[in-house]
Amino acid sequence: MTASTSSQYLSPTTALVSPTLAAGEYSPLKQSPLKQPPLILGVMASGSGSNFEAIAKAIEEGTLNARIAVVIYNNPQAKVAERAQRLGIPAKLLDHRQFDSREALDDAIAAHFKSYKIDWVIMAGWMRRVTQRLLSAFPNHILNIHPSLLPSFPGIRSVEQALSAGVKIAGCSVHIVELIVDSGPIVMQAAVPVLPEDSVETLQARIQVQEHRIFPQAIALAASLYS
Ligand code: GRF
Repeated sequence: MTASTSSQYLSPTTALVSPTLAAGEYSPLKQSPLKQPPLILGVMASGSGSNFEAIAKAIEEGTLNARIAVVIYNNPQAKVAERAQRLGIPAKLLDHRQFDSREALDDAIAAHFKSYKIDWVIMAGWMRRVTQRLLSAFPNHILNIHPSLLPSFPGIRSVEQALSAGVKIAGCSVHIVELIVDSGPIVMQAAVPVLPEDSVETLQARIQVQEHRIFPQAIALAASLYS
């Protein structure tokens, strides 16, 4: 990766965590002025939506050259809908219980995103397995964030798994989505220490700070690598 390839979607002041460096190291890149039109993002979320809001904030602050066109959520109670309303971003409920199959849900998601001319699909706490139907609609253009240093602790309850395993370093990963859950090329990671007194909640909170920091950067980097 060169500075020029990664500069298109980042502000001049943004520093990248290079995926080629050890977790926690920084590789400040010299950025050139923005040249590209903004990335058009479609977000998928099932719950709180704090990552969705962190991405929206990075866009608002000018550190990510993108626009969130729409957020799709699958739980009627998901707090992400309130966040979207507050931010003036369209939100669409596609309740998985209303669909006959995972494929039918993914077809509906893909059709909705296509209607917004989405460049990148951003899974920000989407708690459903996706099928080949969605992957084929956006090949190599779906990103997911996961609260572990993949390939360790894929699947659910990752933070709990990390604590049970007694690891001393935990973290989060942003990766390109493939069919196997939490697999696919890793775009960016951040590491945090595990403290002796940590509970699932305290460790999760420490990881989330890093999620919010790296997700916008990872979107920009992925867009440069997989254009
Ligand atoms: C994050 O911890 C993410 O890693 C996982 O789901 C959580 C979503 O949190 N995939 P939020 O809804 O963005 O607050």
